Amino acid sequence: MIVKGFTGGLLLVQLVAAVSGKSTPLYKDANAPVEQRVKDLLGRMTIDDKMAQLMQGDITNWMNQTSGAFNYSGLVTNMEMKAGTFYGIVVFEAFNYFQGFILTIFLVGYPVAWDWIADNIKRAQDYLLQNTTLGIPALVQSEGIHGFLVGNATIFNSPIAYGCSWNKELVQQMGQVIAREAQTLGVNQLFAPVVDLARELRYGRVEETFSEDSYLAGEIGYSYVKGLQSKNVSSMVKHFAGFSNPEQGLNTGPVHGGERELRTTWLPSFKRAIIDAGAWSIMAAYHSYDGIPAVSDYHTLTEILREEWGYDYFVMTDAGGSDRLCSYFKLCESKPLDMASVTEQLLTAGIDVEMGGGSFNFQKIPELVKSGKLDIDTVNTAVSRLLRVKFEMGLFENPYPAAPETKWHSLINNAEAKQLARDLDKESIVLLENHKETLPLKKSGSIAVIGPMAHGFMNYGDYVVYQSQYRGVTPLDGIKAAVGGNAQINYAQGCERWSNDEAGFDEAVEAAKKSDVAVVVVGTWSRDQMQLWQGLNATTGEHVDEDDLALVGAQGPLIKAIVDTGVPTVVVLSSGKPVTDTWLSNTTSALVQQFYPSEQGGNALADVLFGDYNPSGKLSVSFPRYVGDLPIFYDYLNSGRSIGDSGYEASNGTLVFGHQYVLGNPLPWYPFGYGKSYSTFEYGSVSVDRSTISASDSSVTVSVDVTNTDKSRDGTEVVQVYVSDDIASVVVPNRALKGFEKVVIPAGKTKTVKIPIRIEDIGLWNTRMQYVVEPGNFTVLVGSSSEDIRGNTTFTVR
Ligand SMILES: *[C@@H]1O[C@H](CO)[C@@H](O)[C@H](O)[C@H]1NC(C)=O
Ligand SMILES: *[C@@H]1O[C@H](CO)[C@@H](O)[C@H](O)[C@H]1NC(C)=O
Ligand SMILES: *[C@@H]1O[C@H](CO)[C@@H](O)[C@H](O)[C@H]1NC(C)=O
Ligand SMILES: *[C@@H]1O[C@H](CO)[C@@H](O)[C@H](O)[C@H]1NC(C)=O
Ligand SMILES: *[C@@H]1O[C@H](CO)[C@@H](O)[C@H](O)[C@H]1NC(C)=O
Ligand SMILES: *[C@@H]1O[C@H](CO)[C@@H](O)[C@H](O)[C@H]1NC(C)=O
Ligand SMILES: *[C@@H]1O[C@H](CO)[C@@H](O)[C@H](O)[C@H]1NC(C)=O
Ligand SMILES: *[C@@H]1O[C@H](CO)[C@@H](O)[C@H](O)[C@H]1NC(C)=O
Ligand SMILES: *[C@@H]1O[C@H](CO)[C@@H](O)[C@H](O)[C@H]1NC(C)=O
Ligand SMILES: *[C@@H]1O[C@H](CO)[C@@H](O)[C@H](O)[C@H]1NC(C)=O
Repeated sequence: MIVKGFTGGLLLVQLVAAVSGKSTPLYKDANAPVEQRVKDLLGRMTIDDKMAQLMQGDITNWMNQTSGAFNYSGLVTNMEMKAGTFYGIVVFEAFNYFQGFILTIFLVGYPVAWDWIADNIKRAQDYLLQNTTLGIPALVQSEGIHGFLVGNATIFNSPIAYGCSWNKELVQQMGQVIAREAQTLGVNQLFAPVVDLARELRYGRVEETFSEDSYLAGEIGYSYVKGLQSKNVSSMVKHFAGFSNPEQGLNTGPVHGGERELRTTWLPSFKRAIIDAGAWSIMAAYHSYDGIPAVSDYHTLTEILREEWGYDYFVMTDAGGSDRLCSYFKLCESKPLDMASVTEQLLTAGIDVEMGGGSFNFQKIPELVKSGKLDIDTVNTAVSRLLRVKFEMGLFENPYPAAPETKWHSLINNAEAKQLARDLDKESIVLLENHKETLPLKKSGSIAVIGPMAHGFMNYGDYVVYQSQYRGVTPLDGIKAAVGGNAQINYAQGCERWSNDEAGFDEAVEAAKKSDVAVVVVGTWSRDQMQLWQGLNATTGEHVDEDDLALVGAQGPLIKAIVDTGVPTVVVLSSGKPVTDTWLSNTTSALVQQFYPSEQGGNALADVLFGDYNPSGKLSVSFPRYVGDLPIFYDYLNSGRSIGDSGYEASNGTLVFGHQYVLGNPLPWYPFGYGKSYSTFEYGSVSVDRSTISASDSSVTVSVDVTNTDKSRDGTEVVQVYVSDDIASVVVPNRALKGFEKVVIPAGKTKTVKIPIRIEDIGLWNTRMQYVVEPGNFTVLVGSSSEDIRGNTTFTVR
C-alpha cells in the first residue's frame, strides 16, 4: 500500500509537471519521503542559502514596533541572512555593559496588536514562498512556558505550579491550547517546555521548572510536548543540559558535576521530553558544566544527543548565547569577538542554529567553508536537521496556519481555555497545614482578605507580556465571586511587598478583628518580560537570585499582627519557589501554597478555600527550613543526610545545641510529594504483578488499594511509587520516584490503583559508565509523599 501510494504521488507530480511544462522539484512533493525531500532541497541550496537557514531573524526588522508599519526592504534585508527562523513577537533590545562587554538584553513581549503580528508573519512567509528562489518557509518563534507570550492570550500558572498538579492529562491539554493560540496568529514554534530541575532554590528561575525530580519533570515535559506538537506547533525543549544548578545560585553561573550525575540526574527529563515525546528542537543552555560551555559541548550535543539518543532535529543557541563563548567563557578572543572561532566551535560541537541577541557569528560560514576551515558536511548536517523539522511539521504544505481574523477571539483565550487554566491551577494548589479543620471556609459570616499579594495586581511569574499583572482574577476577586452576597469581605493590603513599612498594619488588624476568619496572602514576586529587565524590584525570575528564602519586608510581621488578633488566620503563600518561614506551620490556622497563579488564580484559590474543590496538589519541590540547608531534594545519594541531633533556638530564647545542625535541622520543612486533602486516604497492602523479572522486561506493575475514608467528600490522591535499589555497584539515590497516578476516589470508596514501573528506568550508570539494570532486589515504596510511605514490597531482577 505504501509503495502504491508513493508511486501515485510521483505520477501525480509528473502529470502536473507535464501539464505545466515545468518540473516540480521533489522537495515540494508532500508525498515524497522526508529524507528525499531534505536531500533534494539541500542539493539546490547555495552556501548563502544554507547560512541564512542557520541564523534567526526578527519580525521587528520589517515591522515598526510602535506603529505596526511594514518595511519591505527591512524584510528583504532580514531574509538575506536570517531566513530559517524568526522571532515572531516584539523584542526590545536594551544594552547594558558588564565587565566591559556589551550584553544584549531582550525585553520580549511588548503586547503589540494581534493583527500586526499576524499580518507581518504572513508577509514574511509569502515573501519567502513567492519571492525567493527555493521558497522555504520559516519557523516562526515565540515563548510559551505557561502560555503563548502575546497580549491577551491565556496565562496558565507557572511551571513550578502546574508541576504540583501531577496531572499529565491537563498539562497535555494545556499544550494543545497554547499551540492553538500561537497558531491562530501564525506562530509555529515555541521555546518550551523547561525541563531543568529545581535543585538550587536560590536560583531565580526555579518558577520556570516543573520539579526537583527528573522523573516528574520528564512526565510533565513529555505531556506538554505531546500536547503542543499534536497541532504541528513545534516544541523547543530547554535548556540543554544541567543548567539550573549554578554556582551560588547565580543565573548563568558555572555548574559543577560529573558524568554520572549528569546522566543520572540531569538528562532523564530531557530524554523523556526530547526522544520519547519527539520534540522537534532543543535550546542549548548558557552555562558551562564541569568546565565545558553547553554551546560547545561535543559530548552532550553530539556523543550523547545524536550518537546515543539518535536525535535527528536541530539545536539552537539561547539569545546571545553564542557570543558568550568568547565574552564570558574566554574560549576565544572577545575584543574584537572572534566570530570565526565561535562559528567553528559551535557547529562542530553540534549546535545547528544561532539565535539573535549576539553578533550573528554564523555569517562567517561561507568564508570558513571557502577557506577550508569548516567542512561543508558540518553545515549540510545542520541545515538538514532544520529542514527535516519543517518537512515533518508540514510547513511547506501549510506555511501559514493562522486563522482568519474573525475567528481570533473564539480561538484565543476562549471560555474553554479559561476553564482549563482554572482547573489546572486548582489542582496545583497544595494544602500544607489545616489545624482544627479551619478549611474549608464557610461562604457566610465575614472574611478578612489581607496582604500585598491579595489584590491590586496578578502575581504572575516571569514570561508574561508587559502589564499582564492588570489582567486576571486576584485572590480578593476570586473570594468575592465565590461568596457572592452571602458573606462580608473586609479587605486591607496591610503592607507593600517591597517594604518594611508597617503603616498599613492597623487597618489590616481592624479588618481581621471584625471578621470570623482572615486570609492573608503573601509571598515572592516576579515581573513581566518588560519590567524584569528594567531593574525593578522582584524576588524571583530570570536573573533575580536570592541568598535568603524567607519572606521579605513587612510580610512576616503582618502575619504575626493578624495572628495576634486571635482571629483564625489562613496564610496563602503566593510564590515562585519555597519560602522558609517555618514558624507559619503551627502559629497559623491553615497554610496553603499556591505557586504563581494563572489568570484564573483567584477563582482557583477560592475553589480550594471554600471546598468546592478538594485540594489534590503535591509539592514538586521540597521545602527547606533555611537557605543554609540546601540542597534539600529528597533523592539524595545513599550516605547523604546522615544526621545526629538537631539544635534549635527555643521560643524563650534558650539555645539548644545539636550537631546536624548545631542550631538547625537538615530535614525538609515539607518533603517532596507532600500535600494534604480535606479527605484522608488509607492505603492497603502493596503488591507487584511479578516478584521476579528480567532486566529486559518492559515493566512491572504495582498495585495498591486506596480508600477515601471521608464519608461525605470525594477526594483526589496522588499515589506515588518510589524505588530503591537495595544493593548497587555505585552509590545511587536513597529512593527515586518511578511512577505515580492521580486518582479521584469517591467518598467512602476504595480504588485499586495500578501503576507501571518501566524497568529501563531503574538502572544505574556503572563504574564503566554503562547504563545497566543490575540483578538484585529492589524495594518499592508506595505512599502519599516521598516520606509518608504507606506500604512496600520487593521485586527481584534476575
Ligand atoms: C516607528 O514608527 C514611529 C511612529 O510612527 C516613528 O516615530 C518611528 O521613527 C518609527 N521607527 C522606525 C525605526 O522607523
Ligand atoms: C527599513 O529597513 C531598511 C533595511 O533594514 C532600513 O535601512 C530602513 O531604515 C527601514 N526603514 C524604516 C522606515 O524603518
Ligand atoms: C515580491 O516582489 C515584488 C517585486 O519586488 C513585490 O512587488 C511583491 O510585493 C513581493 N511579494 C511579496 C509577497 O513579498
Ligand atoms: C487586550 O485587551 C484589552 C481589553 O480588551 C485591549 O485594550 C488591548 O488592546 C488588548 N491587547 C492586545 C495586545 O490585543
Ligand atoms: C501535521 O503535519 C503532518 C505533515 O504534513 C500532517 O500529516 C498532519 O495531518 C498534521 N497534523 C495536524 C493536526 O494538522
Ligand atoms: C518597587 O517597585 C515599585 C514599582 O513596581 C516601586 O513603586 C517601588 O517604589 C519599588 N520599591 C523599592 C523599595 O524599590
Ligand atoms: C508543628 O507542630 C507539630 C506537632 O507538635 C510538630 O511535629 C511539627 O514539627 C511542628 N512544625 C514545625 C515546622 O515546627
Ligand atoms: C526555655 O526553653 C527550653 C527548651 O524548651 C527549656 O529547656 C528551658 O527550661 C526554658 N527556659 C526557661 C527559663 O523557661
Ligand atoms: C530478595 O528478596 C527476596 C524476597 O523478599 C528475599 O527472599 C531475598 O532474601 C532477597 N535477596 C537478597 C539478596 O536480599
Ligand atoms: C516495609 O513494610 C514493613 C511492614 O509492612 C516495615 O516493617 C518495613 O520497615 C518497611 N520497609 C521499608 C523500607 O519501608
